[in-house]
Parts: sequence; structure tokens; C-alpha cells
Amino acid sequence: MGNNLLKGKKGIIFGALDERSIAWKVALRAKDEGADFVLSNAPVAMRLGAINELAEKTKSEIIPADATSNKDLEELFDRSQEILGGTLDFVLHSIGMSPNVRKKKHYTGLNHDFYHKTLDVSAMSFHRVLQTAMEKDAINEWGSVLALTYIAAQRVFPDYNDMADAKSLLESIARSFGYHYGKKKKVRINTISQSPTPTTAGTGVKGFDNFIDFAESMSPLGNASADDCANYCISLFSDLTRMVTMQNLFHDGGFSYTGVSQEIVEGFNKQ
Ligand SMILES: NC(=O)c1ccc[n+]([C@@H]2O[C@H](COP(=O)([O-])OP(=O)(O)OC[C@H]3O[C@@H](n4cnc5c(N)ncnc54)[C@H](O)[C@@H]3O)[C@@H](O)[C@H]2O)c1
Repeated sequence: MGNNLLKGKKGIIFGALDERSIAWKVALRAKDEGADFVLSNAPVAMRLGAINELAEKTKSEIIPADATSNKDLEELFDRSQEILGGTLDFVLHSIGMSPNVRKKKHYTGLNHDFYHKTLDVSAMSFHRVLQTAMEKDAINEWGSVLALTYIAAQRVFPDYNDMADAKSLLESIARSFGYHYGKKKKVRINTISQSPTPTTAGTGVKGFDNFIDFAESMSPLGNASADDCANYCISLFSDLTRMVTMQNLFHDGGFSYTGVSQEIVEGFNKQ
């Protein structure tokens, strides 16, 4: 049972692939809090079909859009406003993909066409979404836009590969666009830097299983789950966080500020 934190609010949620997806959990929570939204994902993701189940559960329509296509995004914003009957209050960008990670290319031996694709899908798409929204004046004053990121944008996690560069760009776009959209329309833009989470995108990273255990033992509160992340997203879409913008917000159980934990040190006990 929700608390009507998003009552009457309308939005677009990108990136629900299956029930493990962070966007999937956000959609369920947003519905619970009284929001109406359109679900969007890449046309190829539609073939899996799971998103239909989410659409039924949340009484939402699905509009396929490749987030690297300005044309698709323009149609998405036009149709979403028709379907929802007005301008929007929130957008979730929960999109990431690296062909270099998929093809197991090492960071020092990247395929640079793939690298372009990583940056386009995982970072520039955020700029495309924001620019499309601004050109169409599709987001209401005090509206809230979120993208999901990872701490590899600031610190080296070797196997995160070219996604680290994509996340750095993504966070920079949130700051730069956040300034302009804030000035123009009081629209807020933030990124949430989430703990490692067992989803399709997450588990694609080499050594993910060991890595999630490492993060768990480094974080005083443990890893933040996808459900926890959904709750945080709801708070940032709500009117309770109206003055938060241009931030990269760590949602990681304290991982980002922990130098080392007792458990990790004990793992090196030589006696
Ligand atoms: N899982 C983690 O450990 C973790 C940690 C921090 C941040 N994140 C970020 O969270 C976000 C969501 O990922 P997730 O973990 O829920 O995994 P996920 O695989 O469920 O979601 C990724 C989504 O991106 C979509 N996508 C890929 N290419 C696209 C395109 N061209 N156009 C539109 N959509 C496209 C996929 O179809 C998929 O729905 C990503 O930005 C990811 O990098 C994930």
C-alpha cells in the first residue's frame, strides 16, 4: 500500500526488461504511489515479451523506442502525452549496454565502433531524452528526471570496462543539463549511483558474483537492492525533494565512503 507520494503524476519509465530490472521495480512502486506512466524499451527488448506482463500489472501502455534515435524519442514523447493526457512530471532513464562488455573485449583492446555504441546507448541517450523533452516542453515545473549510474564513474573497477566512461559522461550530462533545465523550467535532473544488483545488465559484467559479495562486505548497511533503489527513485520523483538537482546520489549502503571494512581486513588474517 502506497502513500500517494506520486498521486496525479505522469511519467515515462525506460528500461524494464524483466522482473529483475531496476526499472521494473520502479514501475511497480510508482503505480503503488498513484502515478500513471508509459513504459518504453528498445524494440529488440519487446521480443522477450516480459514487459507486457508489467504493462498489465500497472495498467500502462508500452511504446517501443530506441534511445539512440531522436525520431523514436520524439514520437515517444508525443504519444506519451496523448496517452497520459498532458505534460509529464517524471522520467526514469534506466538504460545501459556495452557491446565491448558483451564481446568480452579488454579495456586496453576495445573495438572503437563498439565504444561509440556504448557511449551512445548508455550516456548520450540521456542527453537525447532531455533535449527532446525540453524542445517539446514536455515536463512540468518541478518535474524530476533520473538516470542510474555506478561508482566506476569515479573510481577504477577494472572489469566495468568502457561502461565506466559511459557513466562518467552520463553523470556529467545530469549536471550540465540540470543547470539549463533548472534555469529554464525548474526541472531537476539527478543520477543515482546504485550498488551492484543482480539484473541482466549487472550480471553481464565479468566476475559479477564475486564482486557483489565484495561490495556487500564493504558496505556498512550491505548492498542496496533493486527494491530499495525503487523506493529512492520514488522519493526523488516526489515533491519532498524539490530542491535536489544536478547531483550524483550514492545509493549503496555506505560503500562509497568506506575505505575498508573489518570483514575485508579479516580476510587477510595470516595467523
Ligand atoms: N545492475 C547493476 O549492478 C547496476 C548498478 C548500478 C547502475 N546500474 C544501471 O541501472 C540501469 C538499469 O540496468 P539494470 O541493472 O536494471 O539492467 P537491465 O538489463 O534490466 O536494464 C537495462 C535496460 O537497457 C535497455 N536498453 C539497452 N539498449 C537500449 C536502447 N538502445 N534503447 C532503449 N533501451 C535500451 C535494455 O533493454 C534493458 O531494459 C543501467 O543504466 C545500469 O547501468 C545497474
